[in-house]
Amino acid sequence: MSDTKYSPIPVNLESGKRYSWCSCSFSSEQPFCDGSHRANKATPPLVFEAEETKEAWLCTCKQTGTPPFCDGSHNG
Ligand code: FES
Repeated sequence: MSDTKYSPIPVNLESGKRYSWCSCSFSSEQPFCDGSHRANKATPPLVFEAEETKEAWLCTCKQTGTPPFCDGSHNG
């Protein structure tokens, strides 16, 4: 049985735009960073630039091997 808390979130990425993907799980703005890692002394966000405008499924379980994208690890 999968835990829906850790399902990936579909987001519309815009080519050339930069995003901060939460890598620590503390953010309440998943899948993006809201600065909560600072107070929690946790890992900083992964900043990435979208290569194309498209819908992408971003990982929320933080176990993905291809951050920031979901690779199905949340099922394992
Ligand atoms: S949500 Fe799918 S690998 Fe993390």
